[in-house]
Amino acid sequence: MSPLRRPVPMTTPTRTTDPVQLAALREDVVRGLTAERKTLPPKWLYDAAGSDLFQEITLLPEYYATRTEQSLLGDVAGEIAAATCARTLIELGAGASDKAAALLGALAGTVTTYQPVDISAHALALTAPSLTDAHPGLSVRPLVADISAPLDLPEADDGPWLIAFLGGTLGNLLPAERAAFLGGLGAQLEPEDRLLLGVQLVTDPARMLAAYDDTAGVTAQFSRGVLHRINRELGADFDPDAFEHVAYWDAENQWIEMRLRAREAQTVTVADPGIRVHFAAGEDLRTEVSAKFTLDGLAKELMAVGLDLAVVWSDPSHLVALVLAAPSTSLPVS
Ligand code: AVI
Repeated sequence: MSPLRRPVPMTTPTRTTDPVQLAALREDVVRGLTAERKTLPPKWLYDAAGSDLFQEITLLPEYYATRTEQSLLGDVAGEIAAATCARTLIELGAGASDKAAALLGALAGTVTTYQPVDISAHALALTAPSLTDAHPGLSVRPLVADISAPLDLPEADDGPWLIAFLGGTLGNLLPAERAAFLGGLGAQLEPEDRLLLGVQLVTDPARMLAAYDDTAGVTAQFSRGVLHRINRELGADFDPDAFEHVAYWDAENQWIEMRLRAREAQTVTVADPGIRVHFAAGEDLRTEVSAKFTLDGLAKELMAVGLDLAVVWSDPSHLVALVLAAPSTSLPVS
């Protein structure tokens, strides 16, 4: 078996006991399934099983983004460190901090504090012990927070900051959400602070589509996982196999959509809060958008929220980019 296809141990998801999370899921399900075009926010894909499946996706031959970004980061971490001289590294969506290792190594001369931020307390708990072993003296301050909600970063003590948002997750936000997210972060930056974004670039549609429709069917399983989650958390009666996985390139919006297409007409009941949802045969439920960027487009998005694109690094095939943004010296365009 190729090392890329090694099986990932599957975690059995349990029902959430967090009433706030359950209320948010219920609200998103009601809004998304009763809309004219049915959608669900992609964050609900990441329960324990979904997180394991995403790890498996990152190892698939078709899914180039993670390994390309990791290799690029390894190559240019020294340049990022020289350009930022950061004393505090804040990593959004850090997971178990595997992406930050290259940055922490390169910043070893200046960095004193590492703050990984993630919605998963479990992932963050894995972080601190290994990092303090590798970087004695580094203060590791994990923060459990949902980065899709407005994020108040703690008062800056140890500037300059480098805020890293890697892995292409920016592309999973819709344009208005991206503007709010980037604007909210930008407003908290001092002039010498920097934001490092890892984004996927627009490339050959066939290549992008294959990355979201792998031959082993892992991405299909990942997308259907949200239906299993709604069954478990909200007592719904989805038959996930009654939906076909579809990856669609939307050239106008420059994003890939993951969709679940009803194989035949069906009605689904969601016990909590008690709604019935009808699907026509062939009707789609969108479970994720994954935007791909051009550098011009991203520079404009940044400028609109008061950030300048300062430095860009890309791989030789221009599949991904690491973008360093700085608070704008001019006033944001309103
Ligand atoms: C996490 N995120 C950047 C991935 C992406 O490519 O949009 C999630 C993913 N969905 C399907 N495959 C991977």
